[in-house]
This record gives sequence, structure tokens and C-alpha cells, in this order.
Amino acid sequence: MATVWATTTEIIFEYTGLSATAFFTILAMMLVTYKVVCSMFLSPDDFVPVKKQSLNLGDMTEEELRAYNGSDSEKPLLMAIRGQIYDVSTSKMFYGPGSSYAMFAGRDASRALALLSFKPEDINGNLEGLGDAELQILLDWECKFMEKYDRVGQLVLKKTLT
Ligand code: HEM
Repeated sequence: MATVWATTTEIIFEYTGLSATAFFTILAMMLVTYKVVCSMFLSPDDFVPVKKQSLNLGDMTEEELRAYNGSDSEKPLLMAIRGQIYDVSTSKMFYGPGSSYAMFAGRDASRALALLSFKPEDINGNLEGLGDAELQILLDWECKFMEKYDRVGQLVLKKTLT
């Protein structure tokens, strides 16, 4: 055993110019450094994509939609266009209580958006009497919403019991 150690020491010194103790100390430090650096990175196997759980609230009446206007901070902030309900919770700065467009939250704002109106009597889903240009404006809003927000349900006149 002693001869093996003596030979090893000799070989190490011959190749590195270091004593065996210094050599093994440096080796151990390199190993620790390697392990520490490795632990700073995620391996591809550790990467589990977080799937965003999108809401599905299904059918909702206009009456029910009103409850999602930001007055209850536990509930998502919803808004509808042409009967399709979108989760606009990420835009509290637009639709949250006291914000510029808070009057649209919890509502189908199709008519108001088409007419670029803030009048309370226009904040509804009635498209009657709108011209082509106004319907085009509404379509542009709808495209923006489809791109930006999750659709979480649709408005129905009455809930059908299942
Ligand atoms: C004085 C005229 C107006 C000005 C200067 C104005 C300005 C703005 C600005 C700067 C934004 C933020 C845009 C962004 O960051 O994406 C915005 C968003 C918005 N505006 Fe206006 N706006 C005006 C009139 C209107 C009118 C008449 C309506 C509809 C009746 C309207 C509805 C909206 C809505 C719904 C959003 C939020 C869109 C989203 O959810 O991303 N705005 N507006």
C-alpha cells in the first residue's frame, strides 16, 4: 500500500510538479466548483413548461357578467364583445375600478366600441343600426381582444338547465 502511494506521489510530482496533497486538494476544489456551477443551470430534463390554466366559465347571462366588473377582487375582470367573453384581468390599468375604461368591465361593450362612445346607453351588445364603418371598427376591436386576451365563455340570454 505504502509503495503504491509512494509511486503515485512520484508520478504526480513528475507530471505536475505538485505534491500529492496539493494535487488532490486542487482536484477536490475543481470538482466542487464544477458541481456548484452545474447546479446554477437547469438541465433540459428539469424544464417542465408551466401550462397556463385558462379559465372556462362557459355560458353566462349579462346579469352574471356584471359581477366580474372588478368590484370583487377575487373574481377575474371580464368584458364581452359580440357575446364572446374575454378575461381582461391582465389590463386592470384599463378596466379595473377607477380606470379609464372601467365602464366596459362586466359588460358587452360592442356598441360602445363600434361607436367609440362612452355613453352608458351605448354600453351593450346591441348592434342594431350600426353602419359598415362602425362594424369594421368593432371587428378591429374584436381582433385585438382575440389576440390579446383569453376567451373564457359566451353570453347567453338564459341559462339552459343541464
Ligand atoms: C381621446 C381619445 C382617446 C385616447 C387619446 C385614447 C388613448 C388610449 C391609449 C393610449 C390606450 C392604451 C393603448 C395600449 O397601450 O394598448 C387606450 C386603450 C383603450 N382605449 Fe382608448 N383612447 C381614446 C378614446 C377611446 C374611445 C372613444 C374608446 C371606446 C369607446 C376607447 C377604448 C379603449 C379601450 C377599450 C382600450 C384598452 C384596449 C385593451 O384592452 O388593450 N378609447 N386608449
